[in-house]
Amino acid sequence: MNVINPIYYAEEGIKQINQFIKTNNPTKIVFLVDENTHEFCLPQIISEIESESEIEILEIESGEVNKNLYVCINLWEALTELKIDRKGLIINIGGGVLTDMGAFVANCYKRGVSFINVPTTLLSMVDASIGGKTGVDLGSHKNQIGNFALPELVMVDPGFLSTLSKEQILSGFAEIIKHGLIADEKYWKEITSLNGIHLEDMDDLIRTSIEIKKEVVSQDFTETGLRKILNFGHTIGHAVESFFLEQGNPILHGEGVAMGMIVESYISVKKGLLSELEYEDIKEYILSLYKKIDIKEDYFKEIFNFMQNDKKNTNNEIKFVLLERIGKAVFDVAVDEDIVKQALRNYNQL
Ligand SMILES: NC(=O)c1ccc[n+]([C@@H]2O[C@H](COP(=O)([O-])OP(=O)(O)OC[C@H]3O[C@@H](n4cnc5c(N)ncnc54)[C@H](O)[C@@H]3O)[C@@H](O)[C@H]2O)c1
Ligand SMILES: [Zn+2]
Repeated sequence: MNVINPIYYAEEGIKQINQFIKTNNPTKIVFLVDENTHEFCLPQIISEIESESEIEILEIESGEVNKNLYVCINLWEALTELKIDRKGLIINIGGGVLTDMGAFVANCYKRGVSFINVPTTLLSMVDASIGGKTGVDLGSHKNQIGNFALPELVMVDPGFLSTLSKEQILSGFAEIIKHGLIADEKYWKEITSLNGIHLEDMDDLIRTSIEIKKEVVSQDFTETGLRKILNFGHTIGHAVESFFLEQGNPILHGEGVAMGMIVESYISVKKGLLSELEYEDIKEYILSLYKKIDIKEDYFKEIFNFMQNDKKNTNNEIKFVLLERIGKAVFDVAVDEDIVKQALRNYNQL
């Protein structure tokens, strides 16, 4: 298995998609979109695709609530009706919801048809579409069903970000912050000196973030060790995200991760790893960009339940990725429930 998917940017990406189509001559090409990427991204891509193959478009409804097995079944039925065979090609155009689910659908359909990811949100460009994790949610359990499957290639075109909402840009930006914190102090300094979030900076940031993620994933594709560091902020973040999803009051992935990075940095201090000073920097910077999430003491129990169910844990222990310093993460650190509670209370008082 390839350790990582080839990633191409903008025009080079379209060239490579056309090259793939020319070489492999798919029987049919299915573009999987949601209503937003149908409107904002598909027309440009279709106009640049050179192909003799028949083209089909499948549209799903956007939103995390639609990242589930029922929608997958609808898609498998639609692919069957369209008579897509094993030489078909599926091109997933969208955010992480669409690329996670589209990749899973492609990989399970007839034991796997080729697929290409075209991420169109910041989050999917720097994170979701890279590294081969696919999947869907099961009720409120995020990404409970899924596998590892690599696309033929990923095309990253930051131009698509121009139609994305500010909230969604902010959501994806949390992963960029995470990359600096876990792996590259220089990158963290560059990010924090930017004076806010501006589209004109994204091109460079996306490339650096993708390099960091690629580097980590290529050393540990199936996440037995090092790859876990990419989950910094996510043990708390995912649990909080799942909790609010279950309440019918979903928060954005990046909002959960931003909050999770503050709480997990605090835990890092309590475990004698990170310095107070670095924690203060992290907290100040993240709070300057992200609104605080209200985590009432009454919610703690359920949030713990979600943490215990986290795929990353074994033997009922809650294991965290923590920071030793900015730019260096450690993984598999077992943390007592009491410290986690203390960290959540501390966050509440900020
Ligand atoms: N596989 C992985 O490694 C991985 C990593 C991180 C996150 N994820 C998953 O990614 C998902 C979140 O992804 P997301 O943040 O991209 O959210 P998303 O896929 O829900 O997209 C956010 C919204 O933006 C819209 N949109 C997409 N592109 C647009 C564009 N160019 N212009 C205008 N609107 C556009 C979508 O229709 C949607 O309404 C979560 O389900 C998470 O679990 C997966
Ligand atoms: Zn994430």
